[in-house]
Amino acid sequence: MCNRNGGDENGVNRRQALKTFGFWAISGIAAAVVGIPGIRFLIGNSQVLREPQWVDAGLVSHLPTPGEFIPVRYSLLAKDAWREVRREGLVWIGSSKEGQAFALSATCPHLGCLVRWRDDEGLFVCPCHTGKFDAEGNVVSGPPPGPLQRLDIMVEDDKVMVKV
Ligand code: FES
Repeated sequence: MCNRNGGDENGVNRRQALKTFGFWAISGIAAAVVGIPGIRFLIGNSQVLREPQWVDAGLVSHLPTPGEFIPVRYSLLAKDAWREVRREGLVWIGSSKEGQAFALSATCPHLGCLVRWRDDEGLFVCPCHTGKFDAEGNVVSGPPPGPLQRLDIMVEDDKVMVKV
């Protein structure tokens, strides 16, 4: 049977089916274009494999005296399943009264801001929500749920190496 557009019922159904398919195909592509980067943004680097690496933190002879800290910035390439990702960070190197070097991650365990050592307060202070930590990395005040991470450290050929 012909309809007023000159097509038969099957022609209209086919046309409608193609329109519907086209609509959903284009919608699917648009959702993928918007959604995949959005999901990537939301999960951030949480899926990046964090294989620990040793970074050079300076000479043993340059270790700070107890109660002082020196910042060590690092930047290295980490590989996950299919890509290389640059990892950057900051660690604080200190030394105990016994002269043993130790390293604290500068990443605040609350939301990941970088803490700074404040000589005048004798504390690490987080600029984001004023979390404070003592010289051992223990929480003194503020919202951080736990201490600063203590990192593995070793001395190799008079160089201090920190595992990040
Ligand atoms: S991120 Fe450090 S206190 Fe919130």
